[in-house]
This record gives sequence, structure tokens and C-alpha cells, in this order.
Amino acid sequence: MSEKCLVTGAAGFIGSHLVDALLARGDSVVGVDNLKLGTRKNLAVALGNSRFTFHEADVNDVPRLNEIVEKESASSRFTVAWHLAANSDIRAGVTDSDVDLRDTFLTTHNLLKVMREQKIPRLAFASTSAIYGVLPGAMREDAGPLHPISNYGAMKLASEAAISAALEAFLERVWIFRFPNVVGGRATHGAIYDFVHKLLKNPAELEVLGDGSQEKPYFHVADLIEAMLFITGRTEERLNFFNIGTADNVTSVRQLAEAVVKRQSPGATIQYGTGNKGWVGDVPKFNYSIEKLKKLGWKPRLTSNQAVDRSVDEIVREVTGR
Ligand SMILES: NC(=O)c1ccc[n+]([C@@H]2O[C@H](COP(=O)([O-])OP(=O)(O)OC[C@H]3O[C@@H](n4cnc5c(N)ncnc54)[C@H](O)[C@@H]3O)[C@@H](O)[C@H]2O)c1
Repeated sequence: MSEKCLVTGAAGFIGSHLVDALLARGDSVVGVDNLKLGTRKNLAVALGNSRFTFHEADVNDVPRLNEIVEKESASSRFTVAWHLAANSDIRAGVTDSDVDLRDTFLTTHNLLKVMREQKIPRLAFASTSAIYGVLPGAMREDAGPLHPISNYGAMKLASEAAISAALEAFLERVWIFRFPNVVGGRATHGAIYDFVHKLLKNPAELEVLGDGSQEKPYFHVADLIEAMLFITGRTEERLNFFNIGTADNVTSVRQLAEAVVKRQSPGATIQYGTGNKGWVGDVPKFNYSIEKLKKLGWKPRLTSNQAVDRSVDEIVREVTGR
């Protein structure tokens, strides 16, 4: 049965890929984004589809969001909201904690208010591996107590808590997806994106924060979208929460930098900094478990290294046209 979806953060990196996938399976989609980080260009394909409508609006403008949802509900009621609007720039939230309070937490709080008023019964939420902070063991869904080390992670964890309370009060079903570093075309941020733009400015040298030893699993956006749709179609619980990612291997920042240089500007020198943390709030190494997702029957197609290679190619082509 097709769904009527509200997607916040629709013009962003992941949001725009999600919108395309929902439309491809026959859903009707209303996208909202304040275009702070997202772009209309990301929605170029979706805007040509009669089952898609886009509103440039701030999720924290509750009267406006209420008005949009009410108007768009006239033909048929929303069955689900996908909440992806957030501050995705973790570093910006380290310098100014208001950024994550407003765009990462209050967007969740305010969306929940509108969902209650407009009777949208189900919510799918983009959470993050950053809620786990630095754990001695594996990042498993049942790990705790959790002590995030960035405002971003803290406000995502607070959002999960607010959603859990809303489930008790009025929501029918919730999916919480905690994913790690997602990469791919249409990126609006992230290490690959930064490296590509740095090399565009100076094709002879690439400066890297940290000593390059930071290792993380990188996950391709195509796999992520497939996993989220798989999970929402296969789960019966009222509260569902899953890590989504690749557990097969991790990629170091050094490998990332080398892959970008090789594809974009062969011969450029790479200048590394010191320390194994890129910035305050960055979790340098982690052991991320996707056992729960595997048990549900889903496996990622790409390893971390394959996801990086594919994304480097997609982003370099988008940014440089080559
Ligand atoms: N990319 C990753 O590696 C990653 C990892 C874990 C979780 N996530 C989460 O996934 C979601 C999507 O991330 P992304 O990588 O596509 O980032 P993104 O910045 O490309 O997308 C977020 C979108 O939300 C919009 N937005 C922000 N605040 C808003 C507001 N107040 N009102 C309306 N729109 C607003 C931005 O303009 C942007 O288009 C976010 O919630 C992010 O926290 C991303």
C-alpha cells in the first residue's frame, strides 16, 4: 500500500535520495526544508514528479508547518513523517551549542507538536552513531548509559527520548535509525566533500585535520535508503531502533585523502596534522554493531572501502564536472 509521507530535510543529501526512493515505490511525498544546507538542485528529479510537492520552510516555524500539513492533508491524510532535518555540521555545533539545540533538537520537538495536532501516526527518525560517544565495547543498540561527546550527539539522543515520550502519548509507531558516516553523491558536508573542495582551491596540496589514522565505517547512501525502507516494511514493534551501516571494514582518513587525490588531482601532496581526533566531538575509532539488522535479514552491499571509492567518484564528478 502506498504511503503519504512528510519528509523534513528533504533537500539535503540523504533527504533528497530518500524522496527519490519513496517516489519510485509509488508513495506521495511532501518535502520541507529551509534550504540552509540543502539545495533545490538535489530535488531536480523529484520536482518533475506529480506526486511530489516541496515547501521551503523552517520546521521550527510551527504555525507555518501546521498550515503546510493541513493544506497537504486535504486530499489524503499523512501516514508517516520522515524526520531528517537537523544540523549536520557537527563542528558548527561544537563552537555554538545553539545550532544543535535549534536545528537538531527543537526541530524534533516542534515536528512532534505538529504531528500530534495533525494526527500523523508514525515517525521515522534519522538518529546517529554519535549518540554512543566513546564506548569501551561495541556500539550496540542496547548499550548504555550513553554519554555523547558532541552537542550534535547529545541533541540526537534527547530527540530519541522526546520521540519515546511521544510514542507513549500519541504516536502509533516509531522507527529510529542510528547511522554512521554516510557518503555518496549530493553530499552537503563530510570529509570527502571537504577534501574535494580543498583540492579545487589548491590542486597541488591537500591539508588534512589530524594524523590521518582516524578510522570509521563509511556507508553508501544507496545502501542506507534501502535499509531504512527494508526495516520499515519488516518490523511490527511500536518502537523500533536499529544501527544501520557496514560492519565489514573501516576506512582511515588517510585512505580517504589518498582516494580523493588519486581521482581528482593525482600528484598533489597530502599534509597531515597531529593527533587522532579531527575536531572536538569527533569519535576517533569505533566498533559499530549491525547484528540486529543482519538478524532482520538485511546486509549491506558495499564495504566501507567500496562505499568510499564510489562516493569519491560521484562527488568529484558532481563538483568538478569530470
Ligand atoms: N550524513 C551522515 O553521515 C549522517 C549520519 C548520521 C545521521 N545523519 C542524519 O541524517 C539526516 C540527514 O543528514 P544529511 O547528511 O542529509 O545532512 P544535510 O545537511 O544534507 O540534510 C539536512 C537538511 O535539513 C535541513 N534543515 C536543517 N535545519 C532545518 C530546519 N530548522 N528546518 C528545515 N530544514 C532544516 C537542511 O537545510 C538540510 O537540507 C540528519 O538528521 C542527520 O543528522 C546523517
